Amino acid sequence: MSTVADAIAALGRGELIHLPTETVYGLGARADDPTAVAKVFEAKGRPRFNPLIVHVASLEAAEAIGVFDDRARDLAQAFWPGPLTLVVPVRDTQKVCDLARAGLDSVAIRVPSHPLARAILEGFAGGVVAPSANRSGRPSPTRFADALSETGGFVGASVDGGDCQVGLESSVVSLLGEVRYLRPGAVTRAEVEAVVGPLADDATEGHRSPGRLSLHYAPDAPVNINVENPPADCVYLAFGPVDKAVDFAGIILNLSPMGRLSEAAANLFAYLREADAHKPARICVAPIPSDGLGEAINDRLKRAAGFVG
Ligand code: TXA
Ligand code: MG
Repeated sequence: MSTVADAIAALGRGELIHLPTETVYGLGARADDPTAVAKVFEAKGRPRFNPLIVHVASLEAAEAIGVFDDRARDLAQAFWPGPLTLVVPVRDTQKVCDLARAGLDSVAIRVPSHPLARAILEGFAGGVVAPSANRSGRPSPTRFADALSETGGFVGASVDGGDCQVGLESSVVSLLGEVRYLRPGAVTRAEVEAVVGPLADDATEGHRSPGRLSLHYAPDAPVNINVENPPADCVYLAFGPVDKAVDFAGIILNLSPMGRLSEAAANLFAYLREADAHKPARICVAPIPSDGLGEAINDRLKRAAGFVG
């Protein structure tokens, strides 16, 4: 386990770190150094170079990297620090190297709220790219031990920030042209609309957030979703009170016995891992309501099940 000072020093040397955030553990590298950023792709085993999110300590630091219009500033003021990523035109291509942006002339930026992430970013004083700290295609780590087991061999410093409070990656909103909700996350579509008005229909825009592979977040066992009557050979991820009428003698992990979406989000990736550790024939997941945070939970579950292209 490393200190904040260890992490800042490792970033300075161009090494990778485990960056604890409120959403998921990140695999961090300095954003201005293509050699450091390349190590991120190598450690994740990413099949291709997707653009990464740059993490900074403040809106001021964000404005040094990207171009913020009034809409972007309103969203930043409403939700930062917190689980919202804004895609804006890039201002300074030295501060965020081409590899970090996958050659795009836009950049995705967020200010995380986790106190240790903030301490690292304030101390380092430059942008830090950080995708989730899992190997490519595996569930994101939401607990320190999971970050270590996924990518511990690749980092120069690993900071333990406890369990991630949110448990799902940030929402990604594009401000290139019309405002678009590219990736559902903890900040819901309705919360974004409350600040900037109705969002453009993004039904055909999935490809705009590159790198959203279908089999993302997948455990080893196949995942079946919207299962009300689990078969005997599965581990069952329940949601809400389990109906006494359900005839199932196997292992049940309840994402939220009280049926709370925020609790289910925080438990989702850790429970997928825990279910997988039992080496079941399949993992079955109960239907989860799709309102509010449920949009992001169902998005991740569909990807884990291999349904989304
Ligand atoms: O919660 C999070 O956002 C976590 C923690 C560690 O902060 N990070 C994370 O990073 O999920 P990553 O690299 O896995 O997600 C990057 C997302 C992808 O959906 C990517 O396509 C999108 O941001 N993205 C990045 N740059 C973009 C750009 N210029 N235009 C559109 N989408 C972009
Ligand atoms: Mg990820």
